[in-house]
Amino acid sequence: MAEDLNVIILDKDENSRNILKNYLEETGSAKVIGEFADFDAGYDFVLRSGKCVVFVDVSEQFDKALSLIKNIKDNNQEAFIAAVAAAASTDTVIKTMRAGAREFVSKPFIKSEFGSVINTLKQEFGNFEPAQTCKIISTFSNKGGIGKTSIAVNLAVELAQMSKEKVALIDLNFQLGDVATFLDMTPAFAVDYIADNIQNLDEEELLKTMCRYKNTSLYVIADPLNIDKSKEITAEQIQHILDALKKMFSYIVIDIGTNIDSKTITALDNSDLILLIAIVNLPAIRSTQRCMELFDKLGYSSDKIKLVLNRYLENEDIKTSDIEEVVKQKVYWKIPNNYLTMMSAINKGVPVNEINPESNIAVNYKEFAGKLSDYLITQKLNKNYNQRELTI
Ligand SMILES: Nc1ncnc2c1ncn2[C@@H]1O[C@H](COP(=O)(O)OP(=O)(O)OP(=O)(O)O)[C@@H](O)[C@H]1O
Ligand SMILES: [Mg+2]
Repeated sequence: MAEDLNVIILDKDENSRNILKNYLEETGSAKVIGEFADFDAGYDFVLRSGKCVVFVDVSEQFDKALSLIKNIKDNNQEAFIAAVAAAASTDTVIKTMRAGAREFVSKPFIKSEFGSVINTLKQEFGNFEPAQTCKIISTFSNKGGIGKTSIAVNLAVELAQMSKEKVALIDLNFQLGDVATFLDMTPAFAVDYIADNIQNLDEEELLKTMCRYKNTSLYVIADPLNIDKSKEITAEQIQHILDALKKMFSYIVIDIGTNIDSKTITALDNSDLILLIAIVNLPAIRSTQRCMELFDKLGYSSDKIKLVLNRYLENEDIKTSDIEEVVKQKVYWKIPNNYLTMMSAINKGVPVNEINPESNIAVNYKEFAGKLSDYLITQKLNKNYNQRELTI
């Protein structure tokens, strides 16, 4: 027997809630498990309800309803959202779908039409797979000592703190990795063990092999303890690890080594964003230019690459516009030079925000994480909308 739909109704109008509830329950295949006039209370309930269909009325307070839909979509990926409105314009429908609604139902509800709406919902809900939302961000440069690890570590910490979602941080510097040192960790397992066993580990076991950073939602995979082990890891194993992590994490941050080999390329291919790290001096800028040529050969679109200037000082001799001209890429972000805070963080094995959250570098990392996550969400919404557009 098909499973009942668990339904939650968020609508300020009591009469409308009652009609919807009656129609739904008369179909004999839906159960209303909650109804709310207050969106905030309803939102909390939705987050606790796992797999469910949520009817959200967007007729009044449209902007508030839209942000509610976005929040539900981001925070309960098993919720299937159906928007409800009276006299909705095309613009309203598009905005609502773009925010994350999967269906649109017009008010007033007409009983005869409503049966087919429920059938459609049941069909869609039955086939509904939670959206693959994991995003992979890599830090890369073909030059050593430029700040790849500092950036990967501090960004991963900020993303975990900001989103409260699970973030994985992987050290792919197989010869000289130092992610674990930057976070003062002594992991029981490293990437070589995970690579050897990835096909046999279920999600729970995989999570146990990763090293959790304090009480946060950040989990680390460190480089192999034994350098010889690193030679045995294959690009295929890296792909398997990433495939498994994608199902469990909202973000994966990869600190990619300077070596360009098949493992590095696998990680780069899988990345949604590559943070190409440079500092403002001529040799570094030339190397960055060569990285761009490599990315071009690999067929990456310039959207995927974000040029980041690290250890940036105001009044640098070389102007940002000159760098952009040479590298043929806009500078996406600048991280200030703050040697003392950075060194103190590395020596204590903590992120910069634990040394001084008010420091220019800690504030900068927080803003950077916010900008990246906004960018990735917008990309995701646009993708969903484009898919939707084909079927509208
Ligand atoms: N914004 C910054 N301001 C000042 N110093 C910084 C900054 N970012 C990184 N550093 C310093 O630069 C040095 C190199 O940083 P990091 O180890 O992160 O670079 P890397 O590119 O990962 O190096 P490697 O290629 O050896 O892995 C460290 O000593 C660090 O303290
Ligand atoms: Mg490093």
